Amino acid sequence: MKVDTIILAAGKGTRMKSEIPKVLHKIGTKSMLEIIIEKLKNISDKIIIVIGFKGNMVKEKFEKIYSDIHFVEQREQLGTAHAVRVALNSIEGDVSLIIPGDAPFVKRETLSKMVEMLKEADMIALLMEVRNPKGYGRAILERDRLVRIVEESDLNNEEKNINIVNTGIYAIKTALLREFIESVKLNPKKSEFYFTDIVEILDRNGKIVKYIIVEEEEGMGINDRKQLIKAYKERNLKKVEELLERGVTILSPENTYIDEEVEIGIDTVIWPYVFITGNTRIGKNCEIKPFTVIINSTIQDGCNIREYSHIEGAVVEEEVIIGPFARIRPNTLIKKGARIGNFVELKNTIMGEKSQANHLAYLGDATIGNGVNIGAGVITCNYDGVRKNPTFIDDGAFIGSDCQLVAPVRIGKNVLVGAGTTVTKDVPDESLAVSRAPLKIIEGKGMTYYRNKRSR
Ligand code: UD1
Ligand code: MG
Repeated sequence: MKVDTIILAAGKGTRMKSEIPKVLHKIGTKSMLEIIIEKLKNISDKIIIVIGFKGNMVKEKFEKIYSDIHFVEQREQLGTAHAVRVALNSIEGDVSLIIPGDAPFVKRETLSKMVEMLKEADMIALLMEVRNPKGYGRAILERDRLVRIVEESDLNNEEKNINIVNTGIYAIKTALLREFIESVKLNPKKSEFYFTDIVEILDRNGKIVKYIIVEEEEGMGINDRKQLIKAYKERNLKKVEELLERGVTILSPENTYIDEEVEIGIDTVIWPYVFITGNTRIGKNCEIKPFTVIINSTIQDGCNIREYSHIEGAVVEEEVIIGPFARIRPNTLIKKGARIGNFVELKNTIMGEKSQANHLAYLGDATIGNGVNIGAGVITCNYDGVRKNPTFIDDGAFIGSDCQLVAPVRIGKNVLVGAGTTVTKDVPDESLAVSRAPLKIIEGKGMTYYRNKRSR
């Protein structure tokens, strides 16, 4: 069975009061649309996104990351049925999944189950039980059949209290969708074509519409910013609780943000105000101190990441100490037992085993061996205004404070570079390199001499 998905994302999302389309709003680090698309892997063969309001913004964002997504434009937002109709030409599968772009919490398993249930029905609607049904389409059920969905504008008094409502997520046989979508009439009150009307149309034509009921948490649609941050909080808290159960200490769940796919080993302690996002793995027995941000990185066992460190796209081996106030940029590998101190920045650099850069340094495009000491204020001058050049520092070298290594340059094994040196050519193994203007001392010309001169 081939399954195609239509994601409805043409609406403006008026209630968000925003200049960007609703589906691009983020819950944590991912937009609602991204969250939905990722869920469809292995479920859907083809994804069609219906775009409208600032559709180009959506298209540009997603074209780059997902080459296999199709976009169709709904020029005027004439309602959900109209949006589906616009997408129909692009549908090839025998089953169509329809998902509104503002319902990001639906579970993958639920979507699979809906498709599965089509073996014994013509359409499956995902419903949810809510405390406050206002704004949602109400479900009229007859045992295991859904016979009608009544939108807020068309409710009678009795129907108002129905608290089983529509999530806007459906699985339907594509042939029936094609056959009956044209029968949906314009709703006179709102001048829109409601996709929900198709339920009654199918039922009237002897087709079977079944349903699944999920909790509000899973089915909720996000229409305004209050719902957006509520969703953000709930999702984060769930992740934190899952980690607590697995043996990770998270001292302040309210003030920690951890993305869904992050993995953390046992006995690691996460202090307050830490953000761990993307494809990140942290090992066992680590300490992640306050105000640290870790993005798309691997931190192996026993590391200590001290306060205010920012780590992105890096691999950090066991027992490394980083920070406070360190910045580790993409493509950096810090090997076992190394030490990166305050105000040290690494970019596209390999830091060898037990090497250290404890204070105020910039190491970019550098390959640093084992047991190397980088003094305070050392800078690799990797950029000559045109291209980035590499620096190599071999095992056991000692770079004194305040040196500039003008790349491309190679510093040999056990080299000693004197403090304040500007290295402009390769230094062979076991040598001393030092470049300094001779120091002059002129007696009697200290500050007292100049102060007196000025006041005269
Ligand atoms: C819709 C359902 C309602 C359900 C609710 C769940 C209809 C008529 N109503 O109402 O039964 O309880 O979702 O959240 O379907 N869109 C388009 N083109 C349009 C109109 C909408 O692409 O012309 C998109 C929107 O961008 C949005 C989705 O469809 O992503 C749903 O539209 P929205 O206006 O949010 O519908 P609701 O009023 O929430
Ligand atoms: Mg909605």
